[in-house]
Amino acid sequence: MAVDFENDIEKILIMPDELKTLAENLGRRISEDYRDDGELLVVCILKGSLLFTAELLKNITIPVKLDTMCVSSYGAGTVSSGNINIKKDLDTKQIKGMNVLLVEDIVDSGNTIKRTKELLMERGPKSVRVCSMLDKPERRQVQMNPEYVGKKIPDVFVVGYGLDFDENYRNLPYVGVLKPEVYQLV
Ligand code: PRP
Repeated sequence: MAVDFENDIEKILIMPDELKTLAENLGRRISEDYRDDGELLVVCILKGSLLFTAELLKNITIPVKLDTMCVSSYGAGTVSSGNINIKKDLDTKQIKGMNVLLVEDIVDSGNTIKRTKELLMERGPKSVRVCSMLDKPERRQVQMNPEYVGKKIPDVFVVGYGLDFDENYRNLPYVGVLKPEVYQLV
């Protein structure tokens, strides 16, 4: 079925201005928290957090290094499983002694980021923390509380600003609620 931005979105949940403000506030907090605390490696968890990571980085005012990881537990559907698949690992060979900040677009069941954090902890970093643009606490299946959260949202299916459904809608400049009939058709 063809994607129709105008008709597929039920309502806009977070406007572009608010997304910008979220990133500014988180960037300020992160800069304060990690100041004079050694090396900080910011890890963009692909692909959903691409846009948010870019906006966040512009608001971090201390030196950082940037890396990416691609981990996934979702197929075309909307439910996460407990297992993750590492599609692309960090380029940084050695994270021993570094502060690592994992940047996510959304924490839902918590499975993806919990497993990713555990994997990286085994490599001996100084710390691994999580910064997520969105948090859906109602959906949590495992103990996982991101240290930095842009906004808590209810249990609705959101797309846009990096978030997809079946690889579509990532380029919307806002976060919107997808009409149930769109994902129920797949
Ligand atoms: C989404 C999202 C998180 C994860 C959240 O990624 O970006 O990584 O699912 O779900 P969870 O808390 O229930 O594990 P996805 O695997 O869809 O990949 P994407 O970022 O490329 O869209």
